Parts: sequence; C-alpha cells; structure tokens
Amino acid sequence: MDKIVIEGGGRLVGDVQVSGAKNAVLPLMAASLLVEGWNTITNVPRLKDIDTFKTLLRHLGSDIEADPASGVLKIRTRDVKAPEAPYELVKTMRASVLVLGPLVSRFKRARVSLPGGCAIGARPVDLHLKGLEKMGAEISIDAGYVNVAAERLKGAKIYFDTATVTGTENLMLAAVHADGTTILENAALEPEVVCLADALNKMGASITGAGTDTIKIEGVKELRPTTVRVIPDRIEAGTFMVASAMTRGNVLVKDCPYWHLDSLNMKLKEAGAEITEEENGVRVIGDWPIRSVDVKTIPYPGFPTDMQAQIMAMMTIASGLSVITETVFENRFMHVSEMKRMGADIKIDGRSAVVRGVKGLSGAPLMATDLRASASLILAGLVAEGRTEVSRIYHLDRGYERIEEKLKRLGANIERVKE
Ligand code: UD1
Repeated sequence: MDKIVIEGGGRLVGDVQVSGAKNAVLPLMAASLLVEGWNTITNVPRLKDIDTFKTLLRHLGSDIEADPASGVLKIRTRDVKAPEAPYELVKTMRASVLVLGPLVSRFKRARVSLPGGCAIGARPVDLHLKGLEKMGAEISIDAGYVNVAAERLKGAKIYFDTATVTGTENLMLAAVHADGTTILENAALEPEVVCLADALNKMGASITGAGTDTIKIEGVKELRPTTVRVIPDRIEAGTFMVASAMTRGNVLVKDCPYWHLDSLNMKLKEAGAEITEEENGVRVIGDWPIRSVDVKTIPYPGFPTDMQAQIMAMMTIASGLSVITETVFENRFMHVSEMKRMGADIKIDGRSAVVRGVKGLSGAPLMATDLRASASLILAGLVAEGRTEVSRIYHLDRGYERIEEKLKRLGANIERVKE
C-alpha cells in the first residue's frame, strides 16, 4: 500500500490546475443510464471513485470508452443485464446509490445494496427512498438490498426533511421520465446539483429551479445523448487555497471556481490571507501569524463540510482560539486524534472542536481515515517540522487527482512511496 511522505516547512509557490469535480462526474455518469446512445463527459479527473463507478456501470451492462489522459469518458447503455448495484461496489462508494433513480426510471426496477454506516457517520438514504415511494415506486428490503419497482413513476411533490445532495440528484434523475410534474422542496443548492440539471436539460429534460431550494421537473418521454463538461472541483480548489494560505505561500489556483467558494474566501481573508481574482484563477497569498477564525459547516452556500478538516489543519497553527462546528455529519472529527499526535491542541465538545493554535506542529506517522481527513493531514504535514508519513492513502486517491504531484510542483517536499 502506498503512503505519502512529507518533509515539512517550505512555502508553496507557483500555479496549480484544478481538476474536474468528482462529485459532479458521478451523477453525470449515472445520468448516462437514461439514454441509449453514447453520452460524453469531458474534464473527467483520474480518480478511484470514478473507476469504481465505471465498474458499476459495466456491471449493469453499459459500454464504456475512457481516455483518462484527455479526460474524456463515453458511456452507452443500450440495455441492462440486471439492474443491480452489488454490495462489493456500494460499500466502497456510497455514491453508487445514484443509479437507483435512473434505473427505475428507464428500466422499471432497481436493486441496490444499502450503503452501511461509513467513517463519517450513519449517512442514511431514507429520503431517497421516501421520495421514490411518493412517485409511486414499490420498495422492499431484503438481504441488505433495497428493491425499487415502478411500471411508470408519476410526478409528485416531495419535501426533503434534510437538504441532501445525492438525494436531490437521485430524485431528479428519477423524475425526468415520470408522468407529470415533480417538485422537490428543500432541495440541495450545491453547484453539482446545478451541473446535473444543466446536463439533463441538454439531454432534453425540462428542469427549472436547480440552485434554489425548489426544483421543478416536468417529465419528458425521451432524452438524447449529449456532451457535457464537468465543472471544476471546488473542494480540490479550496484545499489548495488553504495550503497556500497556511504555508505563507503564493499560489495561483487556476480554473478555481471561486464563485462557489464565497464562504471559504471570507474565512481565509478573516484569517489574514490575501485573495485576488486574476484572469485565469485566484491567487492566494498567506501570511503569518494566521488569525484564528470560527467555522460552522452548513449545506451550500454555507461553509462546506468537505473543507472542515482542511481549515482545522490551518487553525492548529493560528494565533488564538478557534471553534469549528460540524453540523452536516455526526462523526467527522477523526482527523483530530491524528493532528493531536503532531502536537495540535484540540478538544472535542459534542459537534464542536475547540482548536487552540500552537507555535508549530511536529511531523509524525499518521493514518488517513477518510477522503478529506487525508487531505487535512497532508496540509498539516506541509507546515510541520520534520517528517510526516500519511498511510492508508487509498482514501485520498478516491477524490484528489495526483495531489502529491501538484503539491510537488508548488515546491513541497512530498513523495508517494510504496510501503
Ligand atoms: C454529498 C457529497 C459529499 C458531501 C455531502 C455534504 C457526493 C457524492 N457526496 O454527500 O462529498 O460531504 O454531500 O455536502 O456528492 N441524510 C439523511 N437521509 C438521506 C440522505 C441524507 O438523513 O436520505 C442526511 C445525512 O445523514 C447528512 C445530510 O443529510 O447528515 C447530508 O447528506 P447528503 O447531502 O445526502 O450527503 P451525500 O449526498 O452523501
């Protein structure tokens, strides 16, 4: 198994290119199940989760042509062998559940392994199922699988008790072919939801309101294949912004979707970073001492839960006390114990972490526990004194395209080594 080895201490300087957004590609891949012909997705990053989704689509019966070097992915689904997403795939990637909506919509039934608890909390899919039921689907559960069947889904008014990103996407995918109008209330506002709605509209769907909390979908008979470009990854971009800010760096984050990162922008500025928009990206200049800021994760456009661990890494070396509150997932502080092993002063109190900035961190052997936690440990390693080794980096490869290569080009002393 690979690990990442970092000698901390340097400043990051230079340009870095942001890749396409993982969380936008997966729903676009699921959308390809809705049409017969070749659907084309461009600006696709090379990530483990995308390979897992390809395996899932192939398992279902899709043909796939991928050219990872150019970021082009073509998917054609003439028919499905069995509309089933097996446990082996779902357990490694919860987003597999996104095939539920399109499978029922086009093939009248789906059988998907229920995602279990994951490292960052229970993360149920009850709201996906409740919505499908409201659209007339019959739902049963056996042997850890959920079976969904509907001769024809019908439009419905659906209210989400909690704004859920994949839930909103799944029901949008289900509703495009439904009889009549579906209205999703308290829908997720995330840019990835808008990216999916735009793509579906390009395929001939009739969706309005994506990006607001009320999305209206008029069912249409048929969709056609199309070509869509994946939006840049706001979380990857945000991770590089924090990296620059906390290493006293000067980094131009190219293709940075800063319009999707207002909350992070504001927090970084409050912490003392200088952020300027340039023609092809955003320049982040960091300075010490870093000022402590309080952060609360909230669904978009609030501060993203997917940036919580990274901003915490930065606060460990800030000049005061910072309170970081996680409101989206119930168990997303696993990086805390690893950061403490580097000398960070952090106390967890329920859903909040109280971070008292220390003079410096010291390098240590660390264990990555989930995707964004892995990134935060690398950030901590960049500013720590001495050598940090992050193992179990398969988490990292799920969602960051060659992060060590990108950081190396910015001057970091970082290496991927075989364990
Ligand atoms: C998506 C993102 C993930 C991000 C998260 C929050 C993808 C593939 N993943 O995850 O990176 O961290 O949004 O921005 O896009 N909930 C329920 N019942 C449900 C569904 C969700 O109670 O049926 C709850 C969850 O437990 C959680 C909250 O709603 O507390 C948000 O979850 P959700 O937005 O669904 O997260 P994901 O779509 O899994």
